[in-house]
Amino acid sequence: MQTEHSSDEIVRARSLAKYRQHADGYDSTCGPTWPIRERAVAALQLQPGQVVLDVGCGTGLSLALLRAAVGETGRIYGFDQSPEMLALARARAASAGWRNVELFETSAQALNLPEPVDALLFHYTHDILRSPLALDRLVGSARPGAMVAIAGVKYFPRWLAPLNFWVYLKNRPYNGEPGELASPWDRIAPRLSDWRLAPTQFGMGYLASGRVSQSSPKNA
Ligand SMILES: C[S@@+](CC[C@H](N)C(=O)[O-])C[C@H]1O[C@@H](n2cnc3c(N)ncnc32)[C@H](O)[C@@H]1O
Repeated sequence: MQTEHSSDEIVRARSLAKYRQHADGYDSTCGPTWPIRERAVAALQLQPGQVVLDVGCGTGLSLALLRAAVGETGRIYGFDQSPEMLALARARAASAGWRNVELFETSAQALNLPEPVDALLFHYTHDILRSPLALDRLVGSARPGAMVAIAGVKYFPRWLAPLNFWVYLKNRPYNGEPGELASPWDRIAPRLSDWRLAPTQFGMGYLASGRVSQSSPKNA
């Protein structure tokens, strides 16, 4: 029988191999989803001085938006398990001279932050959202009431179901667990309060937000 840990390890290994190939061309694929990135960051309602975590930050495309929102006095943490993706994020932060951005090469499942965060951004981080172990870590790294914004891909509604094989194929190169696109948020939603969900991209995407529940045992 597969344990949660062993299935996570299989998915993580597949994802690592995929991003070894994708890192160099990744940014050039992200133009069409830029407005969704902006909306996801806006949904965090960040204030100057706050501490925000960019979950699975990849090449760091969200860092400038997050930094603009929390200002010089805030702090931005990011992490990614892919050395190739994170190297590009580190280069971006170094060339911009951002001193309040700290990046960690780690899996979500092993994340250890120096302090609790006020907000969590999940931007196209499907594998992490599907891992209960990763979600334990991430929700546990946030203070109670922290804002959470999530954007990603989902299957079209049932009446457009024939298109979903295309959605599956389009996303397979990016996800260690390429399926589970019917409601990718269903493992994090029960951990959050003030849950909101809206479709994007004609129903092929979603933007969701919520707050880390005050009563979450991980934050007690
Ligand atoms: C589609 S990319 C999104 C990158 C970034 N969030 C963005 O919006 O451009 C997904 C990222 O999640 C990372 N990832 C996948 N599984 C992970 C895990 N278990 N722990 C840490 N990072 C992970 C991948 O390495 C990849 O960089």
